[in-house]
Amino acid sequence: MNPQIDIGLLEQAAAQLDRRWPGAQPRCGIVLGSGWGASVAGLKGDQIPYSELPGLGTTGVDGHAGMLLLSEIAGMEVLVFKGRRHWYEGAGWTPVVQPVYLMQALGVGILLLTNAAGGIRDDLPPGSLMAIKDHINQLGSNPLIGSHHPALGPRFPDQTAIYDAGLRQGLLRSGADAEGVYLATSGPTFETPAEIRQYRAIGADAVGMSTVPEAIVANALGMKVAGLSCICNWAAGLGHAKLTHEDVNRTAAETMPRMRATIATFLEELAHGAR
Ligand code: HPA
Repeated sequence: MNPQIDIGLLEQAAAQLDRRWPGAQPRCGIVLGSGWGASVAGLKGDQIPYSELPGLGTTGVDGHAGMLLLSEIAGMEVLVFKGRRHWYEGAGWTPVVQPVYLMQALGVGILLLTNAAGGIRDDLPPGSLMAIKDHINQLGSNPLIGSHHPALGPRFPDQTAIYDAGLRQGLLRSGADAEGVYLATSGPTFETPAEIRQYRAIGADAVGMSTVPEAIVANALGMKVAGLSCICNWAAGLGHAKLTHEDVNRTAAETMPRMRATIATFLEELAHGAR
């Protein structure tokens, strides 16, 4: 038993999905972060509210729909988690990592994690799309802390190359502007300017409050991981404005046509490569 992640709840939810979608064979899974909800508006299929899945609960953040969708693009089944649970919501690690566990249980091998982030590097202004090359974990925790459970991978997972180079090239071909290093804090506060100076000095290109936990678990489970950040603001102290969640959502909405096109092209390329 892992004191942080409730494996029993994860297994119950996986069994429920098996009953609901017998024979489903999704190859790719997506987690839609803040502001990304409308990026897959064109994908249709059966949906389940998170509240019906044991352990996942309801999303606590504005702009996170909380629906799980099984869809198809060019003959490839895709599992879409519309909205994510965050560590800062205080509900523990189970809801945060559950999407990754469920994808693995349904046979997903490729995971695309999306998020909204603050730009730190000079060439990442608001409205940029950054393919994640690597990450820095500043959450102050790790979802794999606790007694080891083999269902979540090895005790000491290698993290030399969490983000798959081929998938990253795919994102760049599909519309991402640049690649860079994503740093995750626990949130829910935005950063101070002094923290941003520190993060820049240690190699961060963008900062956010998510993605890293799911990437850690997916990598431990042997999945191929891709990450895509919509840069929604200059990080604290680099721009003039105060930071608000509303401004983050507004920039994401303005960038939506490019976010949508990038996801669509990336998925179509994957689907065609699969044949
Ligand atoms: N910091 C942390 N998370 C964020 C930011 C930011 O500047 N922008 C969007 N999400």
